[in-house]
Amino acid sequence: MSIDLVRPELVGMTTYITTPTHGKTRLHLNESPWIPTEEFSVFLEPVFKVTVADQGQGISSAQRQNTLNVLDGASTEATKPFATSVDCENRFLNCYPDLEPQSQLEQALAEIYYVNPENLLLTRGADEGIDFIMRLFLQPGIDSIMQFPPAFLMYAFYARMQQANVICCPLKDTDFSLDLELLDQLWQPHCKLIMLCSPNNPTGNLIDLETIASLCQKYERRAIIVVDEAYVEFAQNRYSNSTETVSATSLINSFDNLLVLRTLSKAYGLAGLRLGSVIGPAPLIQALRSITPPFTFSSLVIERALRVLKNASWIKTAVENIVMFREELQVSLRTFSWVEKVYPSEANFIFLKTKQAHSVSSWLEKNNILVRHYNGNPLLDDKLRITVGDRLQNEALLLALRSFQPDF
Ligand SMILES: Cc1ncc(COP(=O)(O)O)c(C=O)c1O
Repeated sequence: MSIDLVRPELVGMTTYITTPTHGKTRLHLNESPWIPTEEFSVFLEPVFKVTVADQGQGISSAQRQNTLNVLDGASTEATKPFATSVDCENRFLNCYPDLEPQSQLEQALAEIYYVNPENLLLTRGADEGIDFIMRLFLQPGIDSIMQFPPAFLMYAFYARMQQANVICCPLKDTDFSLDLELLDQLWQPHCKLIMLCSPNNPTGNLIDLETIASLCQKYERRAIIVVDEAYVEFAQNRYSNSTETVSATSLINSFDNLLVLRTLSKAYGLAGLRLGSVIGPAPLIQALRSITPPFTFSSLVIERALRVLKNASWIKTAVENIVMFREELQVSLRTFSWVEKVYPSEANFIFLKTKQAHSVSSWLEKNNILVRHYNGNPLLDDKLRITVGDRLQNEALLLALRSFQPDF
């Protein structure tokens, strides 16, 4: 069983259990009864009076109940005199976040990803998912991960934080596909995590599901196959509601050693909320859940995400637009004489090859446009990664590039 790959000292760890609090007077978490908002003075006063009243200075029991309701976040008609003076969003800020909205968000995400809630762990961005996975499986100084350069830099970052070794198995330089033979040669018994990225950042290409499935099968009981799908929505370029097919989430019921990372930071446009998901077989998700601390998600973040996802039909249009702009931009970029190659992309960025990479990025920066050049990385010295923006941003980019003078 792949669950046996969990660090032995973490097996059976129990997470901090939070109890449902709705409708109860919260005197169990050492919270403040007051909220420091701009309206603080307005809100503090009646609440403070209750405290004084409790000490015998007189307040009607109805008023007292109203205030207690306000304190507990209940929104009855009776609480209005107190509640209306405060921005509704701020009413719960003195309390640790309630679990219920978080469960609702997990449920909503599970529906979006076509999985069951027990197959999904909410994280603060896919980044935190990577961190948790590394912490759960990698024994410091003993275990290792395998990554496929050019790869997303955070895999090596979190592995090093966990004092794990990083085995590099470079992608083929022809088409950035996985070198499966080399992978088998480089794999070692303590290599517990195989970190795939599809579409890959920065190269933009997908790994097909057959390859992922065959790796899961081959490394069953030996390694967890992690598929980072931060950009997968853009690969479904004929995006429709039933297009979870290019996602490896469709394989989680077939393999017990597969974990998939998703995020709301890219196609869903919510990078500032820092929300991601780890999706996988229930025992692995349960093991991950057991090492997550409580109260890590801000109640405002959860509330905002729930509101946005309630009607997520806009995502289809957003993705379709980015895909259309990506294709237009690729065509335009190919017309520049100094561009050697514009690679195919299934993500919301374009990866291109040019000996002028450094000068182009400096020129663009002078024009207040930032693109990604990997200065000092020998694998990527002649590459640029350019995010697909909206029409105006893309036009600004092309305009600046038209005045670029290559130093041949
Ligand atoms: C491949 C990949 N994975 C994960 C992340 C992190 O995503 P999040 O914002 O959800 O932490 C990024 C961010 O750029 C990324 O490129």
